[in-house]
Amino acid sequence: MKKAGVAILGLGVVGGGTYQILTEKREYFKKTQGVDLTVECVLEKNVERAISLGVEKEKIATSIEEVVSNPNVDIVVEVIGGTGVAKTFVTMALKSGKTVVTSNKELFAKHWPELEEEAKKMNVGLFFEASCVGGVPIIRTLQEGMQANKILSIKGIINGTTNYILTKMANEGSSYEEALKEAQRLGYAEFNPTADVEGFDATYKLSILSSLAFNKKICIENVYREGITGVNKEDIAYGKEMGYTLKLLGIGKDTEKGVEVRVHPTFVKNDNPLASVNDSFNAVHLVGDSVGEIMLYGRGAGALPTGSAIVSDVIFAAKYDEYFYACFENNEKGNKETKFASDFTSKYYIRLSVADKAGVLSKVSGVFAKGSLSISEVKQVSLDEDKAQIIIITHLCNESLIKKALEKLKTLEEVYEVKGVIRMED
Ligand code: HSE
Repeated sequence: MKKAGVAILGLGVVGGGTYQILTEKREYFKKTQGVDLTVECVLEKNVERAISLGVEKEKIATSIEEVVSNPNVDIVVEVIGGTGVAKTFVTMALKSGKTVVTSNKELFAKHWPELEEEAKKMNVGLFFEASCVGGVPIIRTLQEGMQANKILSIKGIINGTTNYILTKMANEGSSYEEALKEAQRLGYAEFNPTADVEGFDATYKLSILSSLAFNKKICIENVYREGITGVNKEDIAYGKEMGYTLKLLGIGKDTEKGVEVRVHPTFVKNDNPLASVNDSFNAVHLVGDSVGEIMLYGRGAGALPTGSAIVSDVIFAAKYDEYFYACFENNEKGNKETKFASDFTSKYYIRLSVADKAGVLSKVSGVFAKGSLSISEVKQVSLDEDKAQIIIITHLCNESLIKKALEKLKTLEEVYEVKGVIRMED
């Protein structure tokens, strides 16, 4: 039977879940996977926390040097997060000839090429299933399950915190601030929620996933990013009335015009399967040219779901001796040959506050007609005697044309304010 010794760097939520799965299921893995996995040591400053999880005192290492020089450790699991200490420790582990399994999306999105270089030099593995969409096996699906396909698009709800906030705003009419507070109370959102609510977390994940999907290095700088802090409950409610649900989507498309990668709030039709992915759940929808549509759904965070992805990598690393490295030019700046679409196409939801008087609708629609923008739906709500809201949904159009039309609308004296502009996906 193959044997592998594991070290866990960091026993926080995910590290704790990983430790629990590895220790409680040792016999199960021997039987079902033919591998004997032992936790040889952990690196955790909080000794009490380690002991409360059941780690024996002699297995609590006091330095990274102790971990990487331990001959019984074959696989180092990094669940510290961030790019400081985590990068140093992962690099040391690789240089010492240890295979690394990480859940660290920021580290991976920012430093994948140099880490991979180290792994290749030492002929060890570098696994990152848990870096994207927690327990949902999206990386292995892309690497091992869809090789027969050219992947045409990847669209996903890849951040659970923002999905929880948007679900609460839609279902309970909460404001963004109220929903964020509740997400913080439940432990979904951090005290400083910036990484989630401003879309950085989703951007890291999309850069990794779209690189794998399109076989091209997609750097985080290539991803257009907009978070949910500007979203308001009125737009969510109007969208709902018109049959749409608002989600923070990560969208990647490989089109003739080039690659498009973007993270932003997006309205999807209620019958789109992504619309029913609620609360902190995640989902990824893929289109392959041979298989057609595939959708994966599950928990994107949490001790045991993320631990599940990590342990799946550990088992893979223990079972097989050949490792997967990126099959595209994996360098920090991407590949110069990669063409990116500069002006993407989308449908748009636009909400205007206007004067409620004769001729306004025709003036507004005139701006769209002049800008060669085709309207698919219009809704008007009169709020009081002299003010109304007009909601316009366009057909597919270029973002640059929409921007021009919005500038023009702002110059009309009957248009008081552009209240909301939200992209839409079918
Ligand atoms: N903070 C992330 C989320 C979980 O809310 O989805 C880990 O990536």
